[in-house]
Amino acid sequence: MCGIVGILGKSAAAPRILESLKRLEYRGYDSAGIATLDGGELTRCRAPGKLENLSAKLGQTPLAGNSGIGHTRWATHGEPTEANAHPHMTDRIAIVHNGIIENFRSLKAELLDTGTKFEGETDTEVVAHLLTRYLSEGLAPKDAFHKTLGRLEGAFALCVLIKGEQNMMFGAREGSPLVVGLGDGENYLGSDAMALASLSNRLIYLEEGDWAQLSREAVQVYDAAGKAVTRPITISQVAATMVDKGNHRHFMQKEIFEQPTVVAQALGRYLDPNKGKVRLPDMPFELATVPKITLVACGTSYYAALVARYWIEKIARVPVDVDIASEYRYRDPVYVDGGLALFISQSGETADTLAALRHAKAAGQHIGVLVNVMGSTMAREADVILPIHAGPEIGVASTKAFTCQLSVLAAFAINLAAAKGQINDEQEDAYVSELETAPKLMAQVLHHDEKLQDIARSIAHARDVLFVGRGIHFPIAMEGALKLKEISYIHAEGYAAGELKHGPIALIDENVPVIGIAPNDDLIDKTVSNLQEIMARQGKVILLSDNAESEAEGMFARFEMPTAGELVAPIIYAIPVQLLAYYAAVEKGTDVDQPRNLAKSVTVE
Ligand code: F6R
Repeated sequence: MCGIVGILGKSAAAPRILESLKRLEYRGYDSAGIATLDGGELTRCRAPGKLENLSAKLGQTPLAGNSGIGHTRWATHGEPTEANAHPHMTDRIAIVHNGIIENFRSLKAELLDTGTKFEGETDTEVVAHLLTRYLSEGLAPKDAFHKTLGRLEGAFALCVLIKGEQNMMFGAREGSPLVVGLGDGENYLGSDAMALASLSNRLIYLEEGDWAQLSREAVQVYDAAGKAVTRPITISQVAATMVDKGNHRHFMQKEIFEQPTVVAQALGRYLDPNKGKVRLPDMPFELATVPKITLVACGTSYYAALVARYWIEKIARVPVDVDIASEYRYRDPVYVDGGLALFISQSGETADTLAALRHAKAAGQHIGVLVNVMGSTMAREADVILPIHAGPEIGVASTKAFTCQLSVLAAFAINLAAAKGQINDEQEDAYVSELETAPKLMAQVLHHDEKLQDIARSIAHARDVLFVGRGIHFPIAMEGALKLKEISYIHAEGYAAGELKHGPIALIDENVPVIGIAPNDDLIDKTVSNLQEIMARQGKVILLSDNAESEAEGMFARFEMPTAGELVAPIIYAIPVQLLAYYAAVEKGTDVDQPRNLAKSVTVE
């Protein structure tokens, strides 16, 4: 899940590539590099760590040349050192790569046998040497590139420059996205529309197996068999301006605080409050006849799916399966004829979710996606797109995308229930009115964030933290634990409150904070009893609740929540767990927006 950009331009390429890489850092920030063609010669600059390191190095030793390729890396094979940073180069070519070459070991053995020397440990270097070998054998660049592609197995996007070929660049897509950008006497390649936003809005999305030869004047796309093909030109809506942090210290903080606004915007697209109805995009099938829904996603998006299962089953009475995308196709799921498989993904590019989507599609299921990025691969492969309208999410830890996903899924559950005849007009109106209260209640929670800041300080130096909830709030507990783990590096787990006594309660002592999520619903008494069991063992209970009577003697802290209905409660309870994680990370001084080992878009399986 690295980021790629390539420019065949009319002015110095390196500064423009650097600018594009800034938009791609969400795909990885283990190392970065740029190679350019200067007077036909390949030159390169690479640096481990974040893009700012590369930028500083380029400040000292700029790269000349109007053609270049750049890369920001999330390490798969080999440590994030300079030697393993892209672009990889031989005496003939420079290459950047996103994805994994699965057969790289056998190819490497073959190349070692013929005396090839390797600099680093990456799978990409194998591709560089293979292409070089075919060029040395006398093949024309286009034929050598096509022959190289034919040898590769796995998922990859590639971009290549060849020594002496100042008006030529190659790109290929197999499993990982790659987009061609069309300019005026210039042409470009990039991982996505975002990469090319400052360069062009006229894009050609390569299809699986496609590869392309670019010059400044023309672009020719070929399919895997090498046949010239024409792919449509799309006009991108991605804005060229970079999103900034405004007055906030981190993007994550900004994104947490803009949730009332973006959730209101998202709901505005789906709810018609005057008529008391939910409006969904047209579907090429009858929602009323769908016998089963399958929800598939990863990480935070998976927790949104778990919440949605409660709504869909309770309100629409349609059976729901929820799966982690990386497991889905390996368990040989049973498909029901006419079933709807709904894939939830902020980026729309997550490799596991995409593979699951293709599995369900091949099995004849209707395919729906909930995405934030409209030009994403999932959006392009779905029968129905439900955009979540969260706006660009830059912080690696997902926050506003999660609450927007929940808002759209709640609207979907209401619409499905109405289509199925499970609710009448009056009930639909009541649900719509309830959902409309979400932004106001979210703003109320955010208004008291200083209290959560105090609580966060008290958990920031814990070794382990547990989050517990029941029913629809069990997934919120898991989401809280995930947020805390990923940005503050504190070990945390989310449990169904009633499950604690079946093992995890053994962990409890006076050093273990337990965050109890206990809205005043049918389950509150049971949740509070579980919290009492924890306090009886000196656990440090922190309660999030709107029930004033639930505070028990010995509780460490309590955060007062506004009262909300069953559709809105999980959406607003997401906020205190996000803020606890955020403030704990700030207290510890971690890199909140770009936590270690992570990337925003996970395009490897
Ligand atoms: C956690 C987080 C990840 C993503 C997961 C799926 O804060 O952001 O767990 O939710 O990688 O990503 P998408 O939604 O883009 O498919």
